[in-house]
Amino acid sequence: MMSGSKTTFFTLFGATGDLTYRKLIPALYNLHSLDLLEDGFKILAIGRRNYSTQDYHELLRPWCEKFVRTGFNERVFDAFLSRIEYVQMRFDDVNDYQGLKERFAPCSQSQHLYYLAVASSYFDVIASNLVESGCTALSRTKQCLIEKPFGTSLESAQALNDTLLKFFKEDEIYRIDHYLGKEMIQNLLSIRFENPILTPLWHHSMIDSIVVRALEEVGVESRGQYYEDFGAIKDMVQNHLFQILSLLLMKPSNNLDERIINQKEIIDHLSLYNQSTQDIILGQYTSCEQCSDFTKSYREEEHVDPQSNTETFVSIKARVNLPDYNDIKVILQTGKRTHMRSTEVLINFKGKGSTPNQMIIKISPDEGVYLRMNIKKPGPNYDVETVMMEYCQSCVYENRLNTPEAYERLLKAAIQFDRSLFTPWEMVASSWKIVDEWLAFIKLNNVPLQFYPAKTYGPTTTMEHIHEPNQ
Ligand code: BG6
Repeated sequence: MMSGSKTTFFTLFGATGDLTYRKLIPALYNLHSLDLLEDGFKILAIGRRNYSTQDYHELLRPWCEKFVRTGFNERVFDAFLSRIEYVQMRFDDVNDYQGLKERFAPCSQSQHLYYLAVASSYFDVIASNLVESGCTALSRTKQCLIEKPFGTSLESAQALNDTLLKFFKEDEIYRIDHYLGKEMIQNLLSIRFENPILTPLWHHSMIDSIVVRALEEVGVESRGQYYEDFGAIKDMVQNHLFQILSLLLMKPSNNLDERIINQKEIIDHLSLYNQSTQDIILGQYTSCEQCSDFTKSYREEEHVDPQSNTETFVSIKARVNLPDYNDIKVILQTGKRTHMRSTEVLINFKGKGSTPNQMIIKISPDEGVYLRMNIKKPGPNYDVETVMMEYCQSCVYENRLNTPEAYERLLKAAIQFDRSLFTPWEMVASSWKIVDEWLAFIKLNNVPLQFYPAKTYGPTTTMEHIHEPNQ
C-alpha cells in the first residue's frame, strides 16, 4: 500500500448510478490494487438512497467481480472497501452538506476531488452547495470532475460554465470525455508525430478521405430519456468524434496550451463538405425481426416517444478548411444497434490504377494499426495483390493486461492534477458552435430521417458517403 500522510477525499455524487458501478468503482479498485492510491485516499459515496455503508459495500461486490481489470481478489477487495463510506444526502439541500463538512473538517488541507456522476441539471446545484456549505473552504486543493454532457448547446454550455466558474477556477474543472482515456486515442499522437514518414502524407495532395466512426451493437439500453434529448450528434459527434478528428489532424504541439489551440483550430475550421442536405444522413433503428434475439425498435424502447424522430445514427460529410486539408472528405459516423461494435479511423489515400492505400487505426474494442499495400503476388507472373500490414496491439495478451481502462487513466490523471486528458472550455465551446450550426442546418432543410433495421450498417445510403468520389 502506498504510504504517506496526505489525505485525499474522492467525493462521488451519483454513487448508485450505472456509471459508478460499471466504470468508476472498478477503475478505483484497479488503481487501489496496483498500489496507486495513497493510504489516506478516502471515497465518500454520495447517494439519495437509504443504504448503510455495509449495504453499499455488498452492492459493489458483483460489479467488482465482473468488471475489474486487475483480477478480483477477496483480500484486496476488503482493503479497497475500507476506503469507501456511503453518505446518504439530498444534493439540492444545502443543510445536508453539513455531514460532509464534519467528515472533511479533521483533515483540513487535504486534496478534494468532487466527481459529479449525476444528471447535468444537478451540476450547478451541487457546485453551489459545496461552496455555500463551507465544504470547499476546508480543502487545500479542490477539483470538480464533470461527466458529459456539458450542456446541450453552446448557449447552455456557456451558462453552465459561467455558473461553475463562480465556484471553481477553470484549472479546477475537469470535464470528462472518456475517449481521451483510451489507449489508442493517446496513441494517435505517437503514430502521427513519432513517425516522420507520415508527415508529408498528411496533406490533401495525398489523402482522399478520412472516416472517423464509432459503431455500437447496443441500443439505447436504459437511457431512453436522455437519448431522446440528445440523439447521436450531440451524444457522440460533439465530443468523442471531434476529439479524435482534432487529434488526428492537429499540428504538433510542444505543450498542453499549444495542443488545445491546435485541436481547436481543426474544429473551428470544420464545415459541411458541400453545404448540401446530401452531406448528412440521419438514421433510426427499427427492430430486427429475423434475429434470434429479437431486438426492439428505437421507438419501442423505454422512455422513448413512439413517434420519436431522434437520430440513432448519423453520417456527416465534412471538410476542414485549412490549406493542408481543404479537399479531404471527412466522414464522421456513429450509430447504435449496428452490425458490430467498432471505433476506428480510416485514412484513404489517393491512388491511380492500383487499389488505393489505406491506413486503419483501430481504437476499440480491437486496438491496432493496419496499412493496406499492393505487392507482387509470389509466382512467375506479374500479378499485383493487395495485402494488409498488420499491427494488432490488443491481440497480445500482455498488452491487454497492461492497458488501463479509460476511467482508470482519467482518475489517475485527475488525482495527479494532470489536465491533459480533460476537455478545456475552449474545445467544448468550439465543438458546440459547429454542432449548433449543423443542427440548425438539419432543421432548416428538413434533412430526412431514414430507418435502418437493427444489426445492419445503418441506412443504406451510408456507404455512398464513403465510396462516392469527392465532389
Ligand atoms: C458515451 C455515450 O459517451 O459513449 C454512449 O453517451 C455511448 O451513448 C458511449 O454508448 C460509447 O463509449 P465506448 O467507450 O463504448 O465507445
